[in-house]
Amino acid sequence: MRNRILLLGAGGQLGCELARSLPALGEVVPTARKPAAATAPDEYVRLNIADTDALRRTVREIRPTVIVNAAAYTAVDAAEADPATAAAVNALAPAVLAEESRRLDAALVHYSTDYVFDGAGYRPWREDDRTGPLNEYGRTKLAGEEAIRAAGVAHLILRTSWLYSPRGHNFVRTMLRLGAERPELRVVADQVGAPTSARLVARVTAEILARATGSIADFLRERGGTLHACCAGTTSWRGLAEETFRLARAAGSPLRVGRVVPLASSEYPTAARRPLNSRLDCSRLANRFGVRLPDWRTELADCFPEIIATAEAAWTNPAPSRVPLASPVRAQQ
Ligand SMILES: NC(=O)c1ccc[n+]([C@@H]2O[C@H](COP(=O)([O-])OP(=O)(O)OC[C@H]3O[C@@H](n4cnc5c(N)ncnc54)[C@H](OP(=O)(O)O)[C@@H]3O)[C@@H](O)[C@H]2O)c1
Repeated sequence: MRNRILLLGAGGQLGCELARSLPALGEVVPTARKPAAATAPDEYVRLNIADTDALRRTVREIRPTVIVNAAAYTAVDAAEADPATAAAVNALAPAVLAEESRRLDAALVHYSTDYVFDGAGYRPWREDDRTGPLNEYGRTKLAGEEAIRAAGVAHLILRTSWLYSPRGHNFVRTMLRLGAERPELRVVADQVGAPTSARLVARVTAEILARATGSIADFLRERGGTLHACCAGTTSWRGLAEETFRLARAAGSPLRVGRVVPLASSEYPTAARRPLNSRLDCSRLANRFGVRLPDWRTELADCFPEIIATAEAAWTNPAPSRVPLASPVRAQQ
């Protein structure tokens, strides 16, 4: 069966990678909120998913067999001051997508986050564990998940953690920029989780959907649901910073940074509280689909050539950091 896949948020970290992995499954119609030469070419359909009428119209015009929603309001601290916009994008739009998918008998693929949990304890979170988001971002993401589950639509929700990619805003790219500028960095060391490449999540998505022998909606009705999908192993933001610098040095990149000083979350209060324990248990993904994700270090090393290639332009023509030199580095979603 030929699939028609509507991809939302095709200019984001994950959306960019999905635009590469999904064409193996059928025709992809990528949409993005605004033109951005590097990630969302002009031929992409322009769509603001917070505009509910435009969202419904686009789905009805395109009549996809699968909707893949990689669009999200991911500015965790900004969401505290603007919960209405975060909710429109992260909660209301997925609810509309679920309704429209059901109308068309299409499948809905959506992404969520470790931030739906409160971060208590040490055990990796399982899919059915009690949720308890600490911030507006997490609350709106959880509301989006719940709307999809309640709609009775064929769906797959992949919860992932600590995404990075060669494009966009992410911790690894921030570290490379700051490490080239400063001799010392102070980085949060008491929040732990698994850094995961957007490329890997896009590949896992395509791999799961490729298992459908008939319609993807029928397949997901039977085997879909909510699953955790992140790299194996655990580190802290400081551990990720140190591994990033190790790989950059091995690649011959000139760095100024010598010391990465550990910082407690309490020493650096941010607008949004973040969970301390972001470990996700991915055994459901392994048991249901036989998919086991690599250790975070292996995956980071594998992605590094592309990450460093895109960062090099910034080093040869450095722009001044927007972060004051004395400030520590906070974890970002
Ligand atoms: N980043 C992480 O560390 C992380 C961790 C766990 C889970 N996740 C989840 O993984 C998914 C992908 O995240 P990501 O890292 O790829 O995020 P991202 O790089 O911030 O991309 C999100 C995309 O959504 C778009 N978007 C935002 N508001 C929109 C709107 N109103 N209409 C249309 N598009 C809109 C953004 O467009 P603009 O560029 O125009 O803003 C951007 O292209 C999300 O569901 C996120 O919650 C992310």
